[in-house]
Amino acid sequence: MSLREVARRIKETVNIVDVISEYVALKRSGRNYLGLCPFHADRKPSFVVNEEKQIFRCFGCGVGGDVIGFYMKFHNLDFVEAVRELARRFDIPFDLDEGDRVSASRQKALFEVNEKAQRFFVQMLWASRAGEEARAYLQKRGLSAETAKIFGLGFAPNSYDSLASHLKLAGIDLSLAEEAGLLVRREDGSFYDRFRHRLIFPIYDLSGRVVGFGGRILGSGEPKYLNTPETAIYHKGALLYGLFHTRDFIRSAGFGLVVEGYLDLLSLYEAGIKEVVASLGTALTAQHVRQMKGLSQEWYLVFDADEAGLKAAMRAAPIFLNEGLFPRVIILPQDEDPDSFVRQHGARAFLDLKEKALEIFDFLLEILRTRHPPTPEGKLAVFRELEPALMALKDPVLLDLEVKKIAERLGISETAIKRSLAQRKPHPRPEALHRSSPAYLERVILEFVVHYPRFIKDFEEIGLGEIFQEGVHRRLYEALKTVGEQISVEDLTFDDLELQALLSEILLSPPPFEDVPPERVAAEIKGWWLKKRYQQRLEELLEAIRKAEASGQMEEALRLLREYQELRCQI
Ligand code: UTP
Ligand code: MN
Repeated sequence: MSLREVARRIKETVNIVDVISEYVALKRSGRNYLGLCPFHADRKPSFVVNEEKQIFRCFGCGVGGDVIGFYMKFHNLDFVEAVRELARRFDIPFDLDEGDRVSASRQKALFEVNEKAQRFFVQMLWASRAGEEARAYLQKRGLSAETAKIFGLGFAPNSYDSLASHLKLAGIDLSLAEEAGLLVRREDGSFYDRFRHRLIFPIYDLSGRVVGFGGRILGSGEPKYLNTPETAIYHKGALLYGLFHTRDFIRSAGFGLVVEGYLDLLSLYEAGIKEVVASLGTALTAQHVRQMKGLSQEWYLVFDADEAGLKAAMRAAPIFLNEGLFPRVIILPQDEDPDSFVRQHGARAFLDLKEKALEIFDFLLEILRTRHPPTPEGKLAVFRELEPALMALKDPVLLDLEVKKIAERLGISETAIKRSLAQRKPHPRPEALHRSSPAYLERVILEFVVHYPRFIKDFEEIGLGEIFQEGVHRRLYEALKTVGEQISVEDLTFDDLELQALLSEILLSPPPFEDVPPERVAAEIKGWWLKKRYQQRLEELLEAIRKAEASGQMEEALRLLREYQELRCQI
């Protein structure tokens, strides 16, 4: 049997309510069961089990999934272990096909090779002569050995084959180390070390396993940082640096700070500010924010006061607001990052900045107002830039407060703002879809296909699957493609708890455009996509025409122009 088949048998046989009742006191409430969430300090019952759909979800901390997901999370097991354990308990045969045995053991092997590499890097840092340089670097950056050891820092020597030969001696299949992102294959088939002459930061998942590495060049050189590429166990859109070591501090302090760099996090930690996570040099995703939300409601984004900082804040704002978090922004003085600031001014001064942090809308408003003139056009521009964040704000009371504030500061009437937002809000009219942001659309379309998977075939025919970029969205969409007569959405299960949580969240909320027949919604979505594709094609043609003209290929330019005109007529 395949692992998936065993998982499906479990889901057919086992009632999630029975299993969860063993660990959580559940009370029936309408169509659901309610209890106190076992995964966070829950005061009022926020933990819902839906018997009909066989899923659970906590409205406080956002965890969710099916019976296998519950087992994984509750007993801290990986997917295969949870399936094996449940199969054993409910007398379901568990003898896996060759293929699945291999992929399960392959994942385990990736963790093991990372573990070996990690131990090697640590040894190189502390117990080798070459490590002297890196130890001096740590000292120069103000990091104690104690902190470096907590976070498992290491050193990759200045050599193309020190890790490769170490692993080879240990009997490791080097193509496995390549798959883990540790080695790179040459054309002749031999391997060399990806990380050379770098301080190494292992990246842990929430079970404390090393899933990848970051490496900073010692001294100057390019690139400054190098990271593990995406692998079967390293997904940067779902990983936050430091979280495994800092989450208990965040939970007990009741707040968390988000910084951008490895060394920013470590410096703050060194200075005694331990409630920190770092994004791994990528934009924050909804997956990141969901993990944060499970720990605390109060988050501070630490950004530079420059253009990049503003951009990052603008991008992050709707993601946080969409998840129901209302972040604040700590602004650092020009040309400082958290590391340089805390080392120069100390923890006290940093915490003072935290006290002065601005609410996200105040921050955006303040910065945007300095970037646009106080003319009607300027005010409109500020408002338009604020709109994505405003639209992501779900709580009507908070929305009202923010609208009041913005109205006052920009000198626009509240009614005008509300009218503009209502026009933009796609719910409940699917015709407004084309005016929404791509991230919002991606989510709405995903929700739609979870509730109405029968439309996927139509969508696939016109290549609409392309819009799913973010990791979990893409993977859920791919899985939905397998839904048909044999398999329903409720049969799907995932080895990834993020994905389980996402699916149960969508299944427990109403479908988008509830009052509109799904056929019409599907038609709107298809129309929007085709139009977008045509527009892209038109732009490509224009560009090609320009090129052809510039290089004097007049016949080609004419031919393209005709194509362009035909296409325009079609639209
Ligand atoms: P910064 O360039 O701000 O570096 O990148 P930093 O953290 O202040 O590092 P130091 O103080 O110069 O040593 C912030 C983060 O962006 C990612 C890394 O995660 C880094 O910590 N980054 C940066 C990369 O992934 N690659 C790069 O080339 C640069
Ligand atoms: Mn820095």
